[in-house]
Amino acid sequence: MKSQPNVEYWEVAAMYWNDVVTVTPYWAWSTFYCKKIPDEQLDILVMGVANGAFLLLLKEFRRKVWACGIDFSFGMLKHAQKVEKKIVRCGGNVLPFKNESFDVVLSDYFLTVIPEEILKETVKEMERVLKSDGLLIAKELRHRGHFAVWALASLLLGTLLVISVVVSPVLSVFVFFLFVLAFLVYDPAHHKMGRSSAVSKFGLHLSKFVLKKRTFPTLKEIGELYFLSNKYLHIFTDREMDQLFSGSSFKIHDDTTFISWSFSLTGIKKKRVVKMAEQEVSD
Ligand SMILES: C[S@@+](CC[C@H](N)C(=O)[O-])C[C@H]1O[C@@H](n2cnc3c(N)ncnc32)[C@H](O)[C@@H]1O
Repeated sequence: MKSQPNVEYWEVAAMYWNDVVTVTPYWAWSTFYCKKIPDEQLDILVMGVANGAFLLLLKEFRRKVWACGIDFSFGMLKHAQKVEKKIVRCGGNVLPFKNESFDVVLSDYFLTVIPEEILKETVKEMERVLKSDGLLIAKELRHRGHFAVWALASLLLGTLLVISVVVSPVLSVFVFFLFVLAFLVYDPAHHKMGRSSAVSKFGLHLSKFVLKKRTFPTLKEIGELYFLSNKYLHIFTDREMDQLFSGSSFKIHDDTTFISWSFSLTGIKKKRVVKMAEQEVSD
């Protein structure tokens, strides 16, 4: 496999995925995916299967579908293969499937973790392997919701800080710390996670590690947990999301509510109309 950006990150993430950095897709499944995926004989491709949680959900709730997954991390594939054997190790931008192989391609917080330089080609590959009229179903992180939460938290803690300075200078030190943490957790100008987000995630990872494993991490593990706290995330603006699919044959339907943390998208792949150059026939 050709070298892929960020693969080292995901190999380390796989080591801690089930205990420390797990995501729980059940909530997304019950609020979004289960309404979108009919229980029919469909061939489904899951992009970035991680520990196979989505393959498990499909097995449980969509018995008629045939699902397979891809992921580029050996560690993740090891987890996922405990759930399902139909998994391929490859990059999302080089899918080893024939054109028009799938009825549905599922991207759950997958484009969000794909670096800018291979984002467009990854979408192209997802489009290529979908049948005409096939569905792309995606949930990806959105700037507007992040901005709203950041602004609200900063405003609340800022107000609390002013009150605490008047009421109790000791308490105000604690509130000041929380305010700085909240203010720097997101960088709205560049729509990226901010400097304090790694610190907060690190704290969360450390606590989860201790609680789950009932032991303290070694120095090596502390280093790895810190490394994991700096995750690359593409948090899309509405405009960027439009641009990502412009020029593709997807007709995008956007189910996202006004202020939402993530995009909820369905894209129907439309047959491309190939315009033949009119040949001038000269007698
Ligand atoms: C955020 S996780 C997806 C979580 C998954 N939807 C779930 O609910 O369990 C992203 C996954 O994509 C994989 N991944 C990241 N970049 C990739 C790439 N360029 N090609 C293939 N897999 C990739 C990672 O190894 C990881 O397992």
